[in-house]
Amino acid sequence: MPLLGLGTYQLKHHTANSVTQALAAGYQMVDTSADYHTQRGIGDALRHCGLPRESIYVVTKIEATDDAFEATRLNLAELRLDHADLVLIHRPPERGIGEVLWQELRRAKREGLVRDIGVSNYSIEQIEELVYRTGELPAVNQIEWSPFGHSPRMLDFCFDNHIIIQAWSPLTRGLRLNDDKLASMAARYGKTPAQLLIRWNLQLGVVPLPKANHAQHQRENLEVFDFEIRQMDMVKLRTLNEHYSAMGVLPYI
Ligand SMILES: NC(=O)c1ccc[n+]([C@@H]2O[C@H](COP(=O)([O-])OP(=O)(O)OC[C@H]3O[C@@H](n4cnc5c(N)ncnc54)[C@H](OP(=O)(O)O)[C@@H]3O)[C@@H](O)[C@H]2O)c1
Repeated sequence: MPLLGLGTYQLKHHTANSVTQALAAGYQMVDTSADYHTQRGIGDALRHCGLPRESIYVVTKIEATDDAFEATRLNLAELRLDHADLVLIHRPPERGIGEVLWQELRRAKREGLVRDIGVSNYSIEQIEELVYRTGELPAVNQIEWSPFGHSPRMLDFCFDNHIIIQAWSPLTRGLRLNDDKLASMAARYGKTPAQLLIRWNLQLGVVPLPKANHAQHQRENLEVFDFEIRQMDMVKLRTLNEHYSAMGVLPYI
């Protein structure tokens, strides 16, 4: 899995152009879901970008009310791909743990529709229950994650169980980029707040999925491999944690 990817929620206008531009800038992973309405545009971008299919990691999701196997096939039809690299259960169902969804995703994996399967917005307890019932660990838990809202306990759990955390809303949807402490630390590194947030994830071993429509933002968010946040500042960033969520609540806590 590449170290960071392009989020595509609310990228539904001119998706193909935005994704084409991102792939040209160097993004190697794209995150989507049927309910983002970006799969067709991503499919167009993948077909016309001139890059081999294997060089782009495609993540999509199925919903709690779906037949997971069929929904995976429908996602692939929209994307016009023969396989996805990762398919996630978008959210845990209201009742139960998603055991049937998981078994159907396992079937999709066995039949070659997807390389890896995972979950999104699951708590530690929900992952434990899923694994207890099915015997298979998710490869990924995709959750909202930033210095302002994260969980050290989840980080340790995922590290111990070889589950990759993918960070959604890693830029807090832009809502906390003006935070004084964040902005002044970023300035010390000669970087933008967005770059500092992305780099913080990389140094934790978390895979951020910043969404950017604008070409300048897309480029900026890739320019995060030429500096390192000092350990002392990593700790300072972690102390900004107030379980903040751009959506109102961190569902996995
Ligand atoms: N699994 C889930 O339940 C779930 C939920 C939500 C999101 N996601 C995934 O995670 C992705 C990212 O989350 P998100 O879209 O909610 O929010 P985000 O990536 O935290 O923030 C996106 C916003 O930040 C702006 N931005 C991007 N780069 C910037 C920069 N360098 N400087 C200043 N502003 C910048 C974007 O502007 P422009 O677009 O105008 O460039 C956009 O308004 C989603 O797109 C989606 O793929 C998953």
